[in-house]
Amino acid sequence: MSELEKEIKRRRTFAIISHPDAGKTTLTEKFLLYGGAIAQAGAVKGKKNTRHAVSDWMEIEKQRGISVTSSVMQFQYEGFCINILDTPGHQDFSEDTYRTLMAADSAVMVIDASKGVENQTRKLFKVCAMRHIPIFTFINKMDRESRNPFDLCEQIEQELGIPTYPMNWPIGCGKEFKGVYDRTKRHIISFTSNDEMVFGKHKIAASEVELSDPSLDSLIGADLHAALSEDIELLDGASEDFDLEAVREGRLSPVFFGSALTNFGVEPFLESFLQMTPPPLARNSTAGVIDPFDPNFSAFVFKIQANMNKAHRDRITFMRVCSGKFDKEMDVLHVRGNKKMRLSQPQQIMAQEREIIDEAYAGDIIGVFDPGIFAIGDTVCAPSKKFEFEGIPTFAPEHFERVRPKDTMKRKQFVKGAEQIAQEGAIQIFHEPNTGMEEVIVGVVGVLQFEVFQYRMKNEYNVDIIIEGLPYSHIRWISKLPVDDVKKLKLSSDTKIVQDFRDNYLLLFSSEWNIRWALEKNEGLELAEFSRGELQ
Ligand code: G4P
Repeated sequence: MSELEKEIKRRRTFAIISHPDAGKTTLTEKFLLYGGAIAQAGAVKGKKNTRHAVSDWMEIEKQRGISVTSSVMQFQYEGFCINILDTPGHQDFSEDTYRTLMAADSAVMVIDASKGVENQTRKLFKVCAMRHIPIFTFINKMDRESRNPFDLCEQIEQELGIPTYPMNWPIGCGKEFKGVYDRTKRHIISFTSNDEMVFGKHKIAASEVELSDPSLDSLIGADLHAALSEDIELLDGASEDFDLEAVREGRLSPVFFGSALTNFGVEPFLESFLQMTPPPLARNSTAGVIDPFDPNFSAFVFKIQANMNKAHRDRITFMRVCSGKFDKEMDVLHVRGNKKMRLSQPQQIMAQEREIIDEAYAGDIIGVFDPGIFAIGDTVCAPSKKFEFEGIPTFAPEHFERVRPKDTMKRKQFVKGAEQIAQEGAIQIFHEPNTGMEEVIVGVVGVLQFEVFQYRMKNEYNVDIIIEGLPYSHIRWISKLPVDDVKKLKLSSDTKIVQDFRDNYLLLFSSEWNIRWALEKNEGLELAEFSRGELQ
């Protein structure tokens, strides 16, 4: 096997998705601890009000002590080279979070055992499902009171529409939590809450006892033993067979129960997950499917982070390497600009440190300094083989405001600022039919983006803006119009027709109910939640 093949084969690039507070940060931190990338828990994120750790690059992040944009962490574990894409989850949830998922080859979905599937998980899941990437479920916080594990699995299946396969099964929960039954190895791993974990040395608080062993009565109690035997019989009888191919195609989600905070079940999960999750996936392009093992370098831009250094107005552009090997001395082709170039100061994020790098392989994420030439979705490849990767979809914003400059003389700066910020993908701009750009409708996925927009318009473009909230919460692209003019559609009075920068028509709705109403009243109308187009 060549060096290139070896390096690419050992890469695993995934995102961890969850609703805020389900335990994503805690789980990520435990992964990093196992990989030896950080020395102690708390290094990734301290207490909420003081955390400045990983990516507080923008001024606004520092002011609020939160991270506005997502970052990437790379570490080594048991021969694997792991890239974790961090997806911001609190009120800093934004389109960036969705776009980051475009760079992942699989996703780990963390669910709080007492809450089940929550809103943000639902949204992120949808994006992963659209790409048919493997989705692994970690049901967390079993050391607390939890919902019935059968109900949790059923909720995932019903609400997310993906069959599940429990890889292990919890024995009790909360104060009664005794561990899990490993369905593959068919033994118990018992939980001792005060057991000290020695990272990297595989000290697992495991007691490998068979289900039929009478000593289990004393280990977990006769009642729990009986209940467990019953549950396992039910599971073995009822659930589908484990099918790795279905997992790899995103048609079956393996489910693991554990407790990230107490380290319970984290390492077995990581090991099993790394075996099942695929190495870098092939991607579609204008030149057909691009094999990650193709020695020619190629990558696409999935995220642009503006103004990390205010003095220089630099942006950092994050690219996912899709094939071959990147070498910092190599010439690459920026396909949209049709320009040969060298990528400037390529860097990688190792846990919380950023480092200038010399090389990277398919599966890796690199960040490069960008004077403003890149846009989301751009392809960069070896000059000898020119093609473009399939575009990154535009995701439906959920919050809308009408925006105009306070000072009408600042119209030009206003338009420039709004367009540039939209081009970076931080906001989307729309306008009402037959109006110009002196007043726009700004749409965002997460409300914090409004603040970022207002802040940047003032600080970078010197424009104060007037904002008026709008009562809409859903936007849909019209994929099929059954009439010759959009104005002939039958719409409820609180539905608004808008246009994007390319003058495509879209519909703004104030509720799901209104969307259903429009679809019912206009036979043949088709609406889309994602748009497969370039950003403005
Ligand atoms: P997030 O990134 O998904 O938002 O969640 P995060 O890891 O920050 O976890 C949210 C809260 O849940 C944290 O407590 C964390 O300690 C706790 N937690 C995570 N995993 C487990 C678990 O397995 N069991 C229990 N009992 N708790 C867990 P916090 O007090 O809100 O935050 P902090 O002040 O400790 O950082």
